[in-house]
Amino acid sequence: MGFPERRMRRLRRTPALRRLVAEHGLRVDDLVAPLFVKEGIDAPEPVASMPGVVQHTQESLRKEVRALAGLGVPAVILFGVPARKDAHGSGADALDGVVQVALRNLRDEVGDGLVLMADDCLDEYTDHGHCGILTDTGEVDNDATLERYASIAVAQAEAGADVIAPSGMMDGQVGAIRAALDGAGFTSTAICAYAAKYASALYGPFRDAAECAPRFGDRKQYQMDPANAREALTEVALDVDEGADMVMVKPALAYLDVIARVRDRFDVPVLAYHVSGEYAMVKAAARHGWIDGEAVALEHLLAIKRAGADAVLTYFAREVAELLGR
Ligand code: PBG
Repeated sequence: MGFPERRMRRLRRTPALRRLVAEHGLRVDDLVAPLFVKEGIDAPEPVASMPGVVQHTQESLRKEVRALAGLGVPAVILFGVPARKDAHGSGADALDGVVQVALRNLRDEVGDGLVLMADDCLDEYTDHGHCGILTDTGEVDNDATLERYASIAVAQAEAGADVIAPSGMMDGQVGAIRAALDGAGFTSTAICAYAAKYASALYGPFRDAAECAPRFGDRKQYQMDPANAREALTEVALDVDEGADMVMVKPALAYLDVIARVRDRFDVPVLAYHVSGEYAMVKAAARHGWIDGEAVALEHLLAIKRAGADAVLTYFAREVAELLGR
């Protein structure tokens, strides 16, 4: 005879009990909002594959960032879309480059009330769409690219960035950027390394938003192979060794095992990037009425926290901040 033990259900009985025993949570403080700013447009332009996301003008960006700060979102990361592209991505480190202008405006707008992160990469700025400088044979030249990343970092720091986030997956990028920042006197500018960034098919919508799809080939010679997890630990170890203050895993949901292992092994803050394709899939299914988009977004972001991320870069930042603040 005897009854089954009902121990596990006891603490699930009421919402208050469930809140009391929750192991993890999602807070506004965990959110980083990725934002696109485009040169030479006079009104924000919607990104078709990312409903709710726009390419901002300098003015609409200011407004958006003010709203995010008001909601308590602690950080944004900026991506620039220049009016002109060339082989060296000159717009990326120009004094009047679109991100540098935005950083100055935003610093002026929000002071130290919000962390300004800047993506340090070349793909948005090169006419070929690769993340670095090409050799004559069309390969991405690692060391020539490092010099460009270093120069971009200094331009972004000068313009007011708190955190430089190199996303190109060149070997030695963190060390090169740290040395350049220190050499230029920006010893307190931090580096968030895109340490374990995979060659993922989930970046498609971002490449529309940032207008940076490679004209030929793919990024598999510099971004990581999705088959590898141990290799991510080596990538992170190298970046930490070179001076990364924070590290990132990207994308997020298909790499929760990687987030968990990085969290386990390292003590620096771990960020995860819930990328454009992850956002677009939720939006598309929700639009069809096939899933509850808000609920799925919250569940996904919570899962990323549960895996061990300290913060999440997500296009849902504003929506979720509004939801959590309600
Ligand atoms: C490269 C960069 C990419 C993303 C962030 N930084 C694109 C790529 O590697 O092709 C993708 C982010 C996303 O999909 O949301 N500068």
